Amino acid sequence: MDADAQKRAAGEAAAALVESGMVVGLGTGSTAAWFVRALAARGLDIVGVPTSAATGALAQSLGIRLGELGETKGIDLTVDGADEIGPGLSLIKGGGAALLREKLVWEASARCVVIADAAKQVKTLGKFPLPIEVVAFGHTITSLRICDALSECDLGVAPRLRMKDGAPVRTDGGNLIYDAACGRIEEPAALAAALKSVTGVVDHGLFLDLADTALIGAPGGVLTLEP
Ligand code: 5RP
Repeated sequence: MDADAQKRAAGEAAAALVESGMVVGLGTGSTAAWFVRALAARGLDIVGVPTSAATGALAQSLGIRLGELGETKGIDLTVDGADEIGPGLSLIKGGGAALLREKLVWEASARCVVIADAAKQVKTLGKFPLPIEVVAFGHTITSLRICDALSECDLGVAPRLRMKDGAPVRTDGGNLIYDAACGRIEEPAALAAALKSVTGVVDHGLFLDLADTALIGAPGGVLTLEP
């Protein structure tokens, strides 16, 4: 099974967890898109809360009714992808620049299920560059402070502004993304706290103690992991 087939299998397994009447957080990325397609195919009476404009457009095109965060009675279940899945279901997310909306939706959810292909599972987080969302105003100064925060955590790396087609990538909220190629993040909680203390940092892609279950598409089938 190739990576895309693994993502699809994980997305379909997650769609089977949804019941009519639920409010469902809809993640962002190629794996989450498989979930959204499989969910739409079930034809359930649900409300989807998208974590990005792209996911909202996909869900709407497939006939899923949408609600906004805070408009619904709460979110029963959120299903989303990840860039890395580490010990205790600690995650790096934000490869698709949707980390802030994703984290807001995850934190408002009664249950969060992360779906991924097998290559996303790692022993130590950090090989995937950690996305950090910052406000555009004064962002070069903010990036220097991020550098200091990384050094405090023994990570001597300079974050790089994410670019696409020659221009800085803008998030759905109009912010910028810096990516920090940490290598190995030995103490994710300490790093998360250090980054959050920098003025101008909106949020970062470390999702700690948020995932309740992981469904991993693997060559032999879909594996279920708990923290
Ligand atoms: C978007 C994300 C995605 O969930 C993450 O990048 C994984 O993407 P994919 O499923 O395409 O591998 O965090 O911000």
